[in-house]
Amino acid sequence: MNLVLFGPPGSGKGTQAERLRDRFRLRHISTGDLLRDAVARETELGKQVQSVLAAGRLVSDDIVLALMRDAIAGVASEPALRGWLLDGFPRTVGQAGGLDRLLEELHQRIDAIFVLDVGREVLIERLSGRRTCTQCKTVYHVTANPPAVEGRCDKCGGTLVQREDDRPETIERRLGVYAAQTQPILAYYRGRVTIHELDGEMPVDEVTRTIERVLG
Ligand code: AP5
Repeated sequence: MNLVLFGPPGSGKGTQAERLRDRFRLRHISTGDLLRDAVARETELGKQVQSVLAAGRLVSDDIVLALMRDAIAGVASEPALRGWLLDGFPRTVGQAGGLDRLLEELHQRIDAIFVLDVGREVLIERLSGRRTCTQCKTVYHVTANPPAVEGRCDKCGGTLVQREDDRPETIERRLGVYAAQTQPILAYYRGRVTIHELDGEMPVDEVTRTIERVLG
């Protein structure tokens, strides 16, 4: 089962992926998490992309495609997994084409794309209030999904922080980049891959249940 979660920044891709990966035994592959991890570990890649992430712009297709090649190809060698769940990739028509070529090589395909539709005002509210655990990366929201103890992760006790790219001017830029470069991908896939469009403004549990119902 190979799935793509698609939607603008703040639509809930990471939140849903966290829930679906265990339920369906999928590898959650988030390009944003991979890139942020490289930045945190101060690898060569991390140094190269740090300012791009902070500014809310897109990392180059070549870099992202190389990362994804390893991540997707590695899933097949793990018998406990039934497939992968992509979050934040592909993000340009160029990346979608690169993914097609990679999947052809691996004799794999995308089984379904889930699009989370969320309005602009709600996205801004969600991103401004998001807090993430520095250790286990669990995502919270200051009002919609707060931790039991302010600033502490319920799961591991780690410190919760605001992402650098969740500041107002960067949020604006990310939404613009999504509209200009990422949204057109849907037209690329229409008619070739099953696309399920969901109301991403429903409560978190309701979005999960809707996806689970579709996947049976
Ligand atoms: P990335 O990490 O992929 O960020 P994004 O796509 O902008 O998405 P977010 O992580 O911001 O939001 P999300 O949809 O996962 O929402 P979440 O579940 O957290 O990318 C970051 C950067 O990396 C990019 O800007 C770019 O620089 C680079 N990058 C990444 N991939 C790349 C690529 N392929 N190519 C080039 N560059 C790339 O939820 C948000 C908040 O809302 C949380 O607080 C959550 O608790 C809350 N929430 C979620 N669902 C609900 C709900 N149903 N109701 C109420 N609140 C909710």
